[in-house]
Amino acid sequence: MEQYVIKGGNPLVGEVEISGAKNAALAILAAAIMTDETVLIENLPDVNDINVMLEAIGGIGATVQRVDRHRVKINGSTITDFNIEYDFIKKIRASYYLLGALLGKYGRAEVALPGGCNIGSRPIDQHLKGFRALGAEVDIEHGKIVAESDHLRGTHLYFDVVSVGATINVMMAAAMADGLTIMENVAKEPHVVDVANFLNSIGANIRGAGTDVIKIRGVKSLHKSEYSIIPDQIEAGTFMFAAAVTKGDVTVLNVIPKHLDATISKLHDIGCEIEEFDDAVRVVAKGRLRCTQVKTLPYPGYPTDMQPQIGVALALAKGTSTITESIFENRFKYLDELARMGAVIKVEGNSATIEGVEKFSGTRISAPDLRAGAALCIAGLATDGVTIIDDIEYIQRGYEKFEEKLRSLGGVIERVASEKEIQKFILKVG
Ligand code: EPZ
Repeated sequence: MEQYVIKGGNPLVGEVEISGAKNAALAILAAAIMTDETVLIENLPDVNDINVMLEAIGGIGATVQRVDRHRVKINGSTITDFNIEYDFIKKIRASYYLLGALLGKYGRAEVALPGGCNIGSRPIDQHLKGFRALGAEVDIEHGKIVAESDHLRGTHLYFDVVSVGATINVMMAAAMADGLTIMENVAKEPHVVDVANFLNSIGANIRGAGTDVIKIRGVKSLHKSEYSIIPDQIEAGTFMFAAAVTKGDVTVLNVIPKHLDATISKLHDIGCEIEEFDDAVRVVAKGRLRCTQVKTLPYPGYPTDMQPQIGVALALAKGTSTITESIFENRFKYLDELARMGAVIKVEGNSATIEGVEKFSGTRISAPDLRAGAALCIAGLATDGVTIIDDIEYIQRGYEKFEEKLRSLGGVIERVASEKEIQKFILKVG
């Protein structure tokens, strides 16, 4: 197992290139199998979750040609299997997007039931509700979801819960259903819009993505396309908070500022200066950050995937802050790790009260999940001493070249794989 070893205290300064959005790419790779022609996908983030999704797509027989670390060609005409093994679902839940893609194209799919994960139980009842509304027979047998339909028909569906995954999964199935599907109370995240734009680029007829109502007119077949994934607003926000917490001056490049509105607003609230450009945002933090209140909400509200990052900032801010996590039921575990660094936090249900402290002290901590792991690295960068972070494989799932990008901004961080290397780092940094 590997660790990050971090010597904090340096303000992060400079420019960092943001990669393609992992959560858009995972769904678009699944949707790419819906056409029998070749699709070229560009601006893929080079992260482990993408590699697993490509393995899953190859595993059912699709032709996958990795052009380079950021581009792939996919051809779904060679698919021979409609069964996604538990091994893939266990590695990444998002392989359940193949359910909507296979059901839409072939009228059948078998996907292992995804379990819960570190941030919550993560049910998929809304996905199944959508498939059934389209006329599919959906059963749960021996830990598998078996979905079949010889004739998917358009429907008018109102989601009980705003769900990114369900919106995308059902949109894919509806793209090749017969007739008009209207979906209401849908997720409006930028990656939902990116998937709709990709589907339209291969011949689907989807209108309204990014609003509360999506209308889909099913088509009989789809065709080739060349498509570039949008930038990852969560990766961008993570580096923006790293600038805030280290009193730095960081410009994130290749972003869509509009996607960062809620994050920018909160960075303003806690005392950062923000400068927006066409495809970049600059964050400057000089003095101690200010406290604030934040509640995570579906887009365009404050993103739950940015909750640990602001949690670290507020743990060092002047005054008392509160965070309300309204999306997932178990996304505060990182606060226990922060408390071991000296943070003063009280969690009651889905709300955390944070008394800001002047500084953290370095110690050994563990990454509980992807976004919390990245946030704890930010905490280490703000700590004068040395912080060691275990379980960093979570971070490699969703952040491309994370330590290299932090080092390019002046962060003193190394990825190591032994106690000996940890000691060597500590001796080196003094
Ligand atoms: C996506 O997860 C993202 N993952 C998550 O990012 C992100 O946190 C989440 O959306 C919210 O933005 C990917 O895109 C691969 P949801 P998803 O369905 O689709 C409940 C990361 O760090 N719900 O929008 O699983 C659910 O329990 C990851 O990159 C149901 O009740 O999230 C949750 O409370 C972490 N029934 C809420 O909806 C359902 O059928 C939102 O979940 C589906 C969801």
